[in-house]
Amino acid sequence: MEILTSRRDGIAAIEFHRPDKRNALTASMYAALAEAVVAAESDDAVRVILFHGQREAFTAGNDLRDFMARPPAGDDAPVFRFLRAVAGAAKPLVAAVNGPAVGIGTTLLLHCDLVYVGDDARFQLPFTRLGLVPEFASTLLLPLVAGYQRAAELLLLGEPFDAARALEAGFVTRVVPAARALDAAREAAEKLAALPAASLRHTKALMKRAQAAAVEAQLAAEGGHFRRMLGEPAAREALAAFLEKRAPDFRGA
Ligand code: COA
Repeated sequence: MEILTSRRDGIAAIEFHRPDKRNALTASMYAALAEAVVAAESDDAVRVILFHGQREAFTAGNDLRDFMARPPAGDDAPVFRFLRAVAGAAKPLVAAVNGPAVGIGTTLLLHCDLVYVGDDARFQLPFTRLGLVPEFASTLLLPLVAGYQRAAELLLLGEPFDAARALEAGFVTRVVPAARALDAAREAAEKLAALPAASLRHTKALMKRAQAAAVEAQLAAEGGHFRRMLGEPAAREALAAFLEKRAPDFRGA
């Protein structure tokens, strides 16, 4: 099982669990993730959803091999089902991050309500380096939380960055010692689970209300570019370079 789920004290924990590949996400993992979020959302006993990996990694993002072999086709592809389930989640989403949080490992956090990050966390939004565009409405949400120029640096250059810069960019609740990240997230989730569910649900919905339609439109716009660009020369070169463990050559792309 590469996605582990557990339920305790009103908290549905969803764990990325493919440690030998730094929790890189395949289509079948996205299907399990989408199902886990939908199930947690519809279970009255669940009051909070908690995403985490292990001390070694949150997630290295899309599995690039799987992406080449099985590119997401229509709107109903597992990855898009997961994006919609998370973006539309009514219950509070909490995340604990250690180690690499690449691609969707970073953009997922823009949809989480409370994000606890170990001081060992490493983020990256490598989409332009892969000949792609960012996803998960990050082209809308990151400029909103970070300010345009800070977001542009992270999204256009696509370089790795640390927990301090993620905090400065505004999508992290707190940076804690690496060993504390999961405990800090769980403690916050327990506090949320003890509060009245309807108050949390309405408060979250009110905070998100102004952006909800724009997020949906941005998901669709990004998805259109992303799917088309996966088949174009720049992405093919970037993915081949990753598999061959060499630097990509974008001359002419
Ligand atoms: N897709 C497929 N496999 C991946 C992967 C990904 N996104 N990320 C890591 N892996 C695999 C590596 O190929 C390697 O497999 P191997 O042992 O069979 O060679 C294994 O996971 C460990 O990765 P490695 O690069 O040795 O670990 P690291 O700790 O040195 O670096 C990362 C971790 C996440 C920084 C690095 O693996 C990386 O940059 N991965 C690509 C991230 C990416 O571009 N994601 C796509 C976002 S859209």
